[in-house]
Amino acid sequence: MKKYVIWAGMTLGLLTGGAPAVFADNGPQLLTPHYTYNAKTIISGARLFATNCMACHSIKFMRYEFLTNDLGMSKTDVHKYIMLPTGSAFKNNMTSAMPTDMAHKWFGLPPPDLSQIVRYKSQDWIYTYLLSFYRDPKRPSGWNNHLFPNVAMPDVLAPYGGIVNERGQVLRAGDEPPPKFKEQVTDIVAFLRFVSDPSVVQRHDDGPWVLGLLVFFTIAAYFLKKEYWKEVK
Ligand code: HEC
Repeated sequence: MKKYVIWAGMTLGLLTGGAPAVFADNGPQLLTPHYTYNAKTIISGARLFATNCMACHSIKFMRYEFLTNDLGMSKTDVHKYIMLPTGSAFKNNMTSAMPTDMAHKWFGLPPPDLSQIVRYKSQDWIYTYLLSFYRDPKRPSGWNNHLFPNVAMPDVLAPYGGIVNERGQVLRAGDEPPPKFKEQVTDIVAFLRFVSDPSVVQRHDDGPWVLGLLVFFTIAAYFLKKEYWKEVK
């Protein structure tokens, strides 16, 4: 019986795109990012991702050109803010410039591709993860994470968000005030959500039209029915 409950939980989790509730008890409480999901938020996240994450992480299911098609960014902006100076072309996939053997040497493992990370781990997980780093002199990198203990990734956002120790005491304040920093992390999460489901902005734009059309046809069908049945009665 228990097995079925877990499977049902997982299926529900997959369908709703959220973390399966059955696993929620196993770690620290997850935080939820609150934001408006639109092109502006996603583009801001894309810029932050390109600057802070793409040195290590790829998102190989994504192409630079999708940012113009799906988000309405101009080609010039994509070149200026998103594309790495590695000679990648506009039609290329968004792969990291870091050679895999170097990644192995530096981190002991290659940083994973993040194309489907939101589906795999959930938005709340990524948001909480990025806000859970702390200084740990015992770790080779000098960093640790409450949500992902002994993680190999350093806290790359520390310049913005500041540095805390394990108990949350601030060792160095970040360049951004905390609400602004959380907003930046939220934008990165929004971008990763977009990457795992790029057609979503278009779907949201189309949604009201499709619903409007359905309502229109329902009304038309109603009057048509009335017209036909007039004779029969
Ligand atoms: C200096 C290289 C480096 C940078 C820059 C970096 N990461 Fe990482 N990241 C890693 C490594 C290495 C891991 C694997 C950690 C492990 O398994 O211990 C990782 C893991 C992750 C994971 C967990 C993946 C999983 O499968 O559980 C997420 C999410 C993530 N990174 C997001 C980001 C985001 C977002 C940024 C930019 C703000 C970023 N990373 C910048 C190296 C990096």
